[in-house]
Amino acid sequence: MTSVPQTLSASPAYPPLVLETPAMETAVTALIDRVFGPGRFAKSSERLREGNALLPDCSFVALRDGQPVGCCRMWPVTIGGEPVAFLGPLAVDPDERSAGLGQALVESAREAARAAGWRAVLLVGDGPYFGRIGFTNAHTAGVVMPGPVDQRRVLLLPLRQGGDEGLSGPVAIAPGASATS
Ligand SMILES: CC(C)(COP(=O)(O)OP(=O)(O)OC[C@H]1O[C@@H](n2cnc3c(N)ncnc32)[C@H](O)[C@@H]1OP(=O)(O)O)[C@@H](O)C(=O)NCCC(=O)NCCS
Repeated sequence: MTSVPQTLSASPAYPPLVLETPAMETAVTALIDRVFGPGRFAKSSERLREGNALLPDCSFVALRDGQPVGCCRMWPVTIGGEPVAFLGPLAVDPDERSAGLGQALVESAREAARAAGWRAVLLVGDGPYFGRIGFTNAHTAGVVMPGPVDQRRVLLLPLRQGGDEGLSGPVAIAPGASATS
C-alpha cells in the first residue's frame, strides 16, 4: 500500500511576521538599503518619511533566523488635512520573493490600519502589484505628493465604505508626528 504523509503543513512558505520594534531599526534599514539602493532618498515618498514617526502598531517585519527579510512600514500623513496611513517602503529580500511574503506584509499592515481606525491607506507604487490587494487610483487625481511623481502610481485603499473618496490636496506629515530616532 502506498504511504501517505501523516501531516500536511498549513504553514505558508514565508517566515513569520511580527510588528517592527525600535530594536529592529538598524537591520530593517539595512534591508531597505539593500533592496532599493541609495536612489530611494530621491523619491517624493521619502519626504513623507524623513522626520515622521513610524506607526508601530501597523508596521510589519518578516524574520528569518531572527533577521529581517521583509518589511512593510506605515506612517501617519494627511491629504488636504485628512488623516490617512501612508505605506512604504515595502521590501522583500530577493531570496524570499514570489512566496506571497510581499502580499502578506501589505495585508497585515492593511488589517492593522483598519483595526486602528484609519480610513484609508495611501502609497506610491505599481498598480499591477498593489491592485491585487485592492489599491486603485480611482480617487487620487487630486492627491498632491510633495515632489514629482507619476500620478498613475498614487494609489489608495479604503478601509471603510467610501474611505478613499473625497480626499484631495497636499500630502503632508501628520501634525504632531515626529521621529523618535
Ligand atoms: C515588490 C516586492 C515587495 C514583492 O515581494 P514578493 O514577496 O515577491 O511578493 P509576492 O510573493 O506577494 O508576489 C510576487 C508576485 O508579484 C509579482 N510582482 C513583483 N513586483 C511586481 C510589480 N512591480 N508589478 C507587478 N507584479 C509584480 C512577481 O512577479 C510575482 O509574480 P508570481 O507570483 O507570478 O511569481 C519585491 O519584489 C520587492 O521587494 N521589490 C523591490 C522593492 C519594490 O519594488 N517594492 C515595492 C514598491 S512599489
